Amino acid sequence: MTPDNVIIRNIGLLATCDGVGSNADEQLGLVRDAVVWISGGTVQFLGPKQGLPHHAAKVDALEVDADGGFVGPGLVDCHTHVVFAGDRSFEFEARCSGKSYLDIANAGGGIQHTVRATRAAPEATLVADALPRLNRLFSHGVTTAEVKSGYGLDLSSEIKMLRAIASLNQQQPISLHATAMPLHVVPLEFAQARGEYLTKIVTPLLEQIHEEKLATAVDAFVEQSAFTKDESSQYLKAARRLGFGIHLHVDQLTSGAAGAEWAAAEGAWSASHLEQISTRGIRAISASHTVAVLAPASTLFARVRPYAPGRALVDGGATVALCTNVNPGSSLSENVALTMSLACLENGLTPAEAYLAFTRNGGLALRSPSLGRLKTGNTADLVTYRANSYRDLPYHLATSLVREVFKGGTRFVI
Ligand code: NIG
Repeated sequence: MTPDNVIIRNIGLLATCDGVGSNADEQLGLVRDAVVWISGGTVQFLGPKQGLPHHAAKVDALEVDADGGFVGPGLVDCHTHVVFAGDRSFEFEARCSGKSYLDIANAGGGIQHTVRATRAAPEATLVADALPRLNRLFSHGVTTAEVKSGYGLDLSSEIKMLRAIASLNQQQPISLHATAMPLHVVPLEFAQARGEYLTKIVTPLLEQIHEEKLATAVDAFVEQSAFTKDESSQYLKAARRLGFGIHLHVDQLTSGAAGAEWAAAEGAWSASHLEQISTRGIRAISASHTVAVLAPASTLFARVRPYAPGRALVDGGATVALCTNVNPGSSLSENVALTMSLACLENGLTPAEAYLAFTRNGGLALRSPSLGRLKTGNTADLVTYRANSYRDLPYHLATSLVREVFKGGTRFVI
């Protein structure tokens, strides 16, 4: 048990990610030779070591030595599909020999394969299979993650997935934000009756999810192989009426759909993927409150090209977040460090921008602005690293430098 009071001393560099300003360096809110005092699960003090209140010396606290290293907020993974059943390693093998992600999907594999396995799995299996994935995310410093349904695609299986997410929220330290995604692909039994899927399954499903408070947001995959903008707009209207926030998958695999422009016009909290975003789309997202979410590990893993234009999005003024997008098809990776490296090497972000994209901007994508920032009074979700700076995190390719994670003040040594 971690005691109520914890004082982390000897922090060489602290990033609060709560700095004021329009550029990344200002937003990092860096403090050198810092100390953090946690009390009752929240941040009681953070700042230069000389500023620690004198009465801190009188409390019975666990003293933690950060060894002169880097400390920052808990990471926010704002887009995952971490709950699923089954195995698609054979698809990976097929992609390695030249089949595309879309070829596989069009042949009845891809998401449909995972739907079959997820429908067949009991809720307890979904939970048991997701736990080690969440543990790996936690060991990378993730303290909050969004998790989508979307592999059930019928009433009982979507509810089963969302109940599994609720149960996982109680069983491990990462705080989970559930998103309903019945518009992931059209289930095979409705292939010839797409409209009926929306009216007979999705509409009552949203009502039940709302009633049981199983999700705070919804998502839709707008793509030639999934749903049209028109189909999705009807669903978003119903979701909005019930008070759900909106995340969207747009401009991922094929170009020309103007998905980013549409996501901005729909008032989406976030628009993910964006590999195929147009110049107009960049302008539209930049002028909106929609957070542009990049998933470069899935660009790599699904062998989609090009990488999303992160540099142009940041330069255009967009808020850019990063995610692992853990899922069995396009991104089987909980490796935050790999994602950050790819964001720098392939999406054109600076290390500071990549770090902010996994902290405060992830919180903004979930419309939870206190997440991914350290400040007095905030829940004490923070990470100490075997590193001198945030710069080391993408620099050390695909390697976690996390030393300890504090979740709500509780200490976990990694
Ligand atoms: O975000 N694009 C849609 N959904 C997932 C892929 C899911 C899968 O292949 O199982 C994504 O990449």
